[in-house]
Amino acid sequence: MKGSELKNLFLHHVGQTSGDPMGISIERAEGCVIHSTDGREYLDCISGISVASLGHSHPRIVEAVQEQAASYMHTMVYGEHVQGPQVRLARAITEAIGCGLDSVYFVNSGSEAIEAALKLAKRATGRRQTVSFKGAYHGSSHGALSLMGDQHFSNGYLPLVPGNTVLDYNDIQGIQRIGAEHAAVVVEVIQSESGYCPAKEQFLLSLQERCRSVGALLILDEIQTGFGRSGPLFAFQDTALQPDMVAMAKAMGGGMPLGGIAASKKLMDHFTEHPVLGHITTFGGHPVSCAAALASLGVWQEEIDKGRAQAIEKGLRKRLADIPQTHISGKGAMLALHLGSSKRMWDNVHRAWDKGLLIDWFLYNDAAFRLAPPLIITDEQLDVISETLHELLA
Ligand SMILES: Cc1ncc(COP(=O)(O)O)c(C=O)c1O
Repeated sequence: MKGSELKNLFLHHVGQTSGDPMGISIERAEGCVIHSTDGREYLDCISGISVASLGHSHPRIVEAVQEQAASYMHTMVYGEHVQGPQVRLARAITEAIGCGLDSVYFVNSGSEAIEAALKLAKRATGRRQTVSFKGAYHGSSHGALSLMGDQHFSNGYLPLVPGNTVLDYNDIQGIQRIGAEHAAVVVEVIQSESGYCPAKEQFLLSLQERCRSVGALLILDEIQTGFGRSGPLFAFQDTALQPDMVAMAKAMGGGMPLGGIAASKKLMDHFTEHPVLGHITTFGGHPVSCAAALASLGVWQEEIDKGRAQAIEKGLRKRLADIPQTHISGKGAMLALHLGSSKRMWDNVHRAWDKGLLIDWFLYNDAAFRLAPPLIITDEQLDVISETLHELLA
């Protein structure tokens, strides 16, 4: 079937999320390059929104998927059977994450990780209320939407889960509003969909102190930051934070669907009684996804230079510094090139695709380009990104 025919069927039969999808018809994807069915090549500067941190179809991940699929796939709903890839992955993640988070509950996606984290916090504290921040995106399910820091996208689904308070991000004064009625505070170390805005460390530490003093649990959403995107395995590991829970997904599965929450076993055990089955999932922690994730973690630990995310940041900041009327925010391989107006972004994003550079914008910020390439991007490929952006924006 030809690419154009496939695209028409895609528009007709596949549920659409916007009137103007990117619409590139995919033939294959390898490393940092996506190949379309019409023979074009695109340098991927999005990584499927922070998923392909090790590039596309890394051979070690592909092999792990193939081997696991040939041994067994789904055998039983989550939590009943002992499945090697799941157990080994849980041990590897808990060893790498440290700070007493020695248990992982596996789910399928970021939204589901947030749902599970909120439920666990309610169950452990016996409290009903939560706190999140303006500009936050935590997912598209009802619970996650209730935390949303921008009501434009959530208003159509009222009533949402009641009892969430939205505070200003990076506002240390504001966190005094967190009190003994709150089960949990959910926060991103680098706020993703407002345009890669890092939290100030003092804000995060004050938040943690306030949570501890009122008995609210601190939940970090590391769904987009996790698995090396900002530098360390998890962004909070660059700070002195010791969170109660970490939600993860996206790059976790190395391209396969997987999410999870890490917590102490003591906290996690609240899911197991009064009543049992505190959170249920059929496919969460699927053995093939876990095998892919384990291989992916191994690749990150063994093959990726631990300074690479910072080198990408430095390289892009230096190369793009002289583009007029722009500035860059973010950290590591999660950068936003702020263009000053959404018109400038919309005028240029399709032109970038035409030139073979895959970039996009942010859910809450269409005046910036997302620059989030795989960590395996080469310096020569950074030159290509720079040349293209200079041509477009000079
Ligand atoms: C920071 C953050 N949290 C949560 C989510 C939700 O993850 P998912 O789309 O896997 O449900 C996303 C997805 O973009 C995200 O960026």
